[in-house]
Amino acid sequence: MRAGLVSSQRSVPAGINRPPYTRLPGGEPGPSVSSVVRTSEELAAMRRTGALAAEVLIAACGRVTEGITTDAIDRFVHDTAVAAGSYPSPLGYRGFPKSVCTSVNEVICHGIPDSRRLAAGDIVNIDVTVYREGVHGDTSVTLMVGEVDDHSRRLVDETRTALYKGISAVRAGVPVSEIGRAIETHASRHRLGVVREFIGHGVGTEFHSGLQVPHYYDRRAATVLEEAMTFTIEPMLTLGSPEAAMWDDGWTAVTLDGRRTAQFEHTLACTADGAEILTRTASGECAHELFIEPIG
Ligand code: MF3
Ligand code: CO
Ligand code: CO
Repeated sequence: MRAGLVSSQRSVPAGINRPPYTRLPGGEPGPSVSSVVRTSEELAAMRRTGALAAEVLIAACGRVTEGITTDAIDRFVHDTAVAAGSYPSPLGYRGFPKSVCTSVNEVICHGIPDSRRLAAGDIVNIDVTVYREGVHGDTSVTLMVGEVDDHSRRLVDETRTALYKGISAVRAGVPVSEIGRAIETHASRHRLGVVREFIGHGVGTEFHSGLQVPHYYDRRAATVLEEAMTFTIEPMLTLGSPEAAMWDDGWTAVTLDGRRTAQFEHTLACTADGAEILTRTASGECAHELFIEPIG
């Protein structure tokens, strides 16, 4: 991958409630101050905002074709989020210039939408976060564009499965480290690497709150899950080494060896006996199930 041209900054109408970091220098949110456990009002809001994030992601996936630019995906996500009365959380977060992350092929995460066109054989992660009613919903999917090689397909399929293995480990009373253990076990079984530099995170009134959710087994992730904790699981798996490098734009994370990587993400709430997936539509739909086959 090479960087393309980034279009000028999109605007958000004054009537839309913005997250606090958009008013702070450099979009820096500062240290996390919120609890990792949601009130019942916050949880209700997260169900609605999570459903919206799922809707926006599904709609964006429906626009993807061979030849579309990632900038056009950004414009669509921006306009759809704003039309629904939400703020596209990435826009201005720590200076991120766009409204969605689009990460192609060897880009691990945080790809900046630009003038590059998707081509047959590409894989692309679209990572949507929206903010409404004072809370964020964060979800992503990796799509296959046209005919992709068998290794890429296996990578995408097993990364999706790894996310759901992680979700299956969630339950009140279990340490956070069990999530990473489940994901790493699945990845190892399929000889896929697990990226360590980027992890799941608490999410709620803040985009990234105190809780850390590694996607590999880390005994330091000793926090015991409680009901109404809200966080993401977003494993990034690789065909080769999971080692990461950063482009000089300060955002685009790529694999050091240039091999491909895929990612899937949900926002979840921990319950007494499992996880509630917050980033599904009101009718239970999710891009992960709607876009299993190559598109375009
Ligand atoms: N949505 C990403 C995540 O899953 C974060 C993107 S931060 C941005 O945590 F600034 F790059 F948008
Ligand atoms: Co996230
Ligand atoms: Co995300």
